[in-house]
Amino acid sequence: HQRQQNELIKLHEKAAEIFHHVLLNTQAGEQALSYLKGRGLTEEIIAEFQIGFAPRERILLKKIFENEEVSDELLDASGLMTQRDNGEWLDRFYQRIMFPIRNAQGKIIAFSGRILQTENFDSDKMPKYLNSPETLIFNKRQTLFNYDQAKNEARKEQELTLFEGFMDVIAAWTAGVKNGVASMGTSLTNEQIKMIQRVSNKLLLCYDGDSAGIEATKRALDLLSSETTLELSVARLPDGLDPDDYIGKYGAEEFVRLTKSGRETEFTFKMSYFKRGKNLKNEQERFGYLQEMVKELVKVPSVIEREVYINQIAEEFDISVEAITEEIRGAQQDGH
Ligand code: CTP
Ligand code: MN
Ligand code: MN
Ligand code: MN
Ligand code: MN
Repeated sequence: HQRQQNELIKLHEKAAEIFHHVLLNTQAGEQALSYLKGRGLTEEIIAEFQIGFAPRERILLKKIFENEEVSDELLDASGLMTQRDNGEWLDRFYQRIMFPIRNAQGKIIAFSGRILQTENFDSDKMPKYLNSPETLIFNKRQTLFNYDQAKNEARKEQELTLFEGFMDVIAAWTAGVKNGVASMGTSLTNEQIKMIQRVSNKLLLCYDGDSAGIEATKRALDLLSSETTLELSVARLPDGLDPDDYIGKYGAEEFVRLTKSGRETEFTFKMSYFKRGKNLKNEQERFGYLQEMVKELVKVPSVIEREVYINQIAEEFDISVEAITEEIRGAQQDGH
C-alpha cells in the first residue's frame, strides 16, 4: 500500500502543478483568474495555496497521464479520472477552480473544485463544489483544509479557527488570520476534533452568518463542549455574510477586530441563539427561554464566569440572583 500511496500523492502533486499552470499562464485559465482576482485574491495568495483551473474539455490530465504511461489501475485509484463504458478515460474535474487539499504533512491528497460559471457554460445542475472521492490517500472525515499550515500557527497562538468554507480560510489568511481550517463540506467529525485537540486547546468557531451557519455553530458547540475540554469561542458574522464576504465588505482590520474583541463565549452565543424566533414578552416563552439558560449555566465550568451571566440574566429579566442560583442547584441535582 505504501508504494501506491506515494504514487498517488505524486500524481496529485503533478495534477496541482498543471492546474496551477493553466490558471496562471494559459488562455484557458483567463476567465478563472479574473474571477479570482475579482474576489480579492492576489497572485501571491493563488501561488501560496497553489490554486488552479481545470478546463471544460476534460482531457488535460488524460493527455499528460497517457503520455507518461500511468497505469489504468493507478488512474482508477487516484479519483482524478473517470472511465466511460468504452474504456476511454476522462478528467473528473472540469470547468472548475481547483483547490488542492493537503494532509497534515502538507502532501496533496485530493482536490475540491469550485464551478466557474461563464456565459457559454450552463452549470445550473452542477454542484457548486465537487470533492475528490475517498481514495487510499483521502479520507474526508480525517481531513481539514489548511491544517498543515494552520497547525504551526496554532502552536504559536494557542488557537485554531474553524470556518465553513475554503474561501473563508483563504480570505482570513489574506487578512492575517492564518490559523484557519475548514471541514470538508460536512459537519465536524470525531477524527477532525482529535486533530484540533492535538495542536491547540482553544478553538474559535467562525461559521457563515446565515441560519445554516448559526445552526451548525450550535451543533458544533454542543458536541465540542460535551466531548472535549477545548476552550471555545464564537465569532458571529452579521446576517447573510460569510467571513469571506465580510472581509470583502468591511476589510481585514474589521475582521480581525471581530475575531478578537468581537468574539462571544459559548454561553453568550447560546443567550442569543435561544432568543431566535421567541417572543420574550410572552410569559410562557420567556419561562421556556429561562429554563434553556439554566441548562446552559449548569455547563459553564468557571464559577466567576457563571456569576457574571447570572447577574446579566437577573438584570435583563428582573429576577433575583437567588432564584436563578436555586434553579441551577436544582438542575445540577437532576443531572446526577
Ligand atoms: N460545499 C460543498 N458542496 C456544495 C456547497 C458547499 O461541498 N455544493 C462545502 C464546501 O466545502 C464549501 C463549504 O461547504 O467550502 C461552505 O459552503 P458555502 O458557504 O456555500 O460556500 P462558500 O465557501 O461560501 O463558497 P463561495 O464563496 O465560493 O460561494
Ligand atoms: Mn454556508
Ligand atoms: Mn459561505
Ligand atoms: Mn457563497
Ligand atoms: Mn463565500
